[in-house]
Amino acid sequence: MTDPQRVLIFDTTLRDGEQSPGATMTHDEKLEIAQLLDEMGVDIIEAGFPIASEGDFEAVSDIAKRSKNSVICGLSRANYKDIDRCWEAVKLAARPRIHTFIGTSPLHRGITNLGQDEMIERIADTVTHARNLCEDVQWSAMDAIRTERDYLCRVVETAIKAGATTINIPDTVGYTLPEESADIIRMLLEKVPGADEVIFATHCHNDLGMATANALAAVSAGARQIECTINGLGERAGNTALEEVVMAIKVRRDLMPFETRIDTTKIMNLSRRVAQVSGFPVQFNKAIVGKNAFLHESGIHQDGVLKNVETFEIMRPADIGITETNIAMGKHSGRAALRSKLADLGFEMADNQLNDVFVRFKALADRKKEIYDEDLIALMADSAANTDTDYLQVKWLRVVCGSDGQEAELKMVVDGVEKSAKCSGDGPVDACFKAVKQIYPTEAKLKLYQVHAVTEGTDAQATVSVRMEEAGRIVTGSASDTDTILASVKAYVGALNRLRVRSQKTAPDADLKSVSYKL
Ligand code: KIV
Ligand code: ZN
Repeated sequence: MTDPQRVLIFDTTLRDGEQSPGATMTHDEKLEIAQLLDEMGVDIIEAGFPIASEGDFEAVSDIAKRSKNSVICGLSRANYKDIDRCWEAVKLAARPRIHTFIGTSPLHRGITNLGQDEMIERIADTVTHARNLCEDVQWSAMDAIRTERDYLCRVVETAIKAGATTINIPDTVGYTLPEESADIIRMLLEKVPGADEVIFATHCHNDLGMATANALAAVSAGARQIECTINGLGERAGNTALEEVVMAIKVRRDLMPFETRIDTTKIMNLSRRVAQVSGFPVQFNKAIVGKNAFLHESGIHQDGVLKNVETFEIMRPADIGITETNIAMGKHSGRAALRSKLADLGFEMADNQLNDVFVRFKALADRKKEIYDEDLIALMADSAANTDTDYLQVKWLRVVCGSDGQEAELKMVVDGVEKSAKCSGDGPVDACFKAVKQIYPTEAKLKLYQVHAVTEGTDAQATVSVRMEEAGRIVTGSASDTDTILASVKAYVGALNRLRVRSQKTAPDADLKSVSYKL
C-alpha cells in the first residue's frame, strides 16, 4: 500500500464475530455476507478458522473461490498443521492471506508453556512456513496490550524478519484506553527494525466500551489496518464496529485525514443482514445503525432538524444507505410496490423469493392495517429464519389464557410427520414451550427470552429472540408476529432447528468455539 492516508478495513465478522456464543451462520449465509462485504469495499475478509471444523474449512474455501476484490484470509494457530489447513482453504482466492497468531503476554505464555526464547523460535518457524506458502502473511501477537513492551518489540521484529507483511496488535481482552493504544503503535514503529516495511493493524475488543476509540487512536499513531465486525459482533462485548470507525473517519476528516475504500451506503443493508443471520438484533441506541440513530423525538430536536438538519445530525441517513420514507404499505399494495419497497430497504430478490414474501406480507396485512418499514424488515428476518423445509415446523397453535390458568394446544410437523400436544404451564409461553418439548423432547436449555415491539400500537408485531444451549453449543432463534405467543413458539422452534443442524455438522470438540488457543 503506497498511499499513507489509506486505511485498510479488515472485516472479521465471519471469524471473530461468529465466535460470539449463538452467532452461528449457515454456509450459504456466510457466502452471502462475504459477497456483500466484498461489494461494500472491505479490503480483507477474514472468512473463518479453517482447522476449527469441516464446515469452517468449506466456508473459507468457497468464499475464497468466489472472491472478487477483497483479500480472503483464514486464521491459524502457530503450528504447521493449522497453517497448512488454512492455506488449503484460502489458496484459490484471487488474493489469499494466511493469518497466524500466538498469545505473547505472560498469561498466554503460561498457557502454551513456552518460555520467551522458545516462543521467539516458534514465531520465526511458523511465520517462515506460512510465508513459504503465501506471499501475504499476517501475524498477530494475541494479548499484545498486556505483553511486556520489550518483549513485544522482540516478537514483532521476529515476525517481520520471518516474512510477515502485516503485524496485528490485538487488545484481546478490551483492556486498553486510547492513549495507550496509540502509544504502543508509536513505540513499535519507532523501535522495531523493519517496522516501516509492514502494515500495522489494530484489533480491539469492547469490554470497556472503548474498541472504536482505541482503534482510531492506533490509526492516528500509524496503524493502517483496522480489524472490525459489522454491528461490532464478537465475543463478550464484541469488537470494533466497522460502521463506527468508517463513519468516524468520514465525518471527522478534519481530525483524521484518512480514507477507506468502503461504500458507506451499503452499511445499513449489511447491518440488517448480519443481525438477521447471526440472530443478534441491533440495540435501538447503537451508534450509526441503531433504530434510533436518526430519530428525533423531543420537540426541540424535531424543531431544529426541520429547520436545519445539521442542528442535530452529523451525518445523513442516506450516507449509510437509509432511503426509506416510512410510508406505510397495506393490504391493497401489490407485488410491484412490495418489490420496490424491499429494494429501497436493501433487499433484492428473485421472483420465487418475492412470491413467498408476498404471501407472508398479505397474511400480515390481513391482521395489521398499516405495514411500516420495520414490519417489512422483521418479515424478511422471519422468512430467512423459519422456512417450510425446516425439520421442525409449527403448524397450528391455540392458547387459552386468563385468571383460571393457561393451556396450550400445539400441532407441529417433525421430519414430515404431524404431531400434537396439549400442556398447561406457568403462563402462556411456558405452556407452549412445554408442548413443544412434549412433541420434541430435548435437553436444550433456554438461556434468554426477549420480546421487542417492532412498531408502536397494540397491533404491533413482536419480535421474540431466544438463546438456547445444549452440550456446549449455543444458538439463537428469532421470529416476528402480531401474536407474541406464536412468535415465541416460532423463535423457540427455530432455535431447536439450528441446534439440530449444528449437532449434525460438528462434534462439539471440533467446533470453532471450543478450539482452544493452546498450541
Ligand atoms: O482478539 C484476538 O486477539 C484475536 C486474535 C486471534 C487475532 O481475535
Ligand atoms: Zn479478537
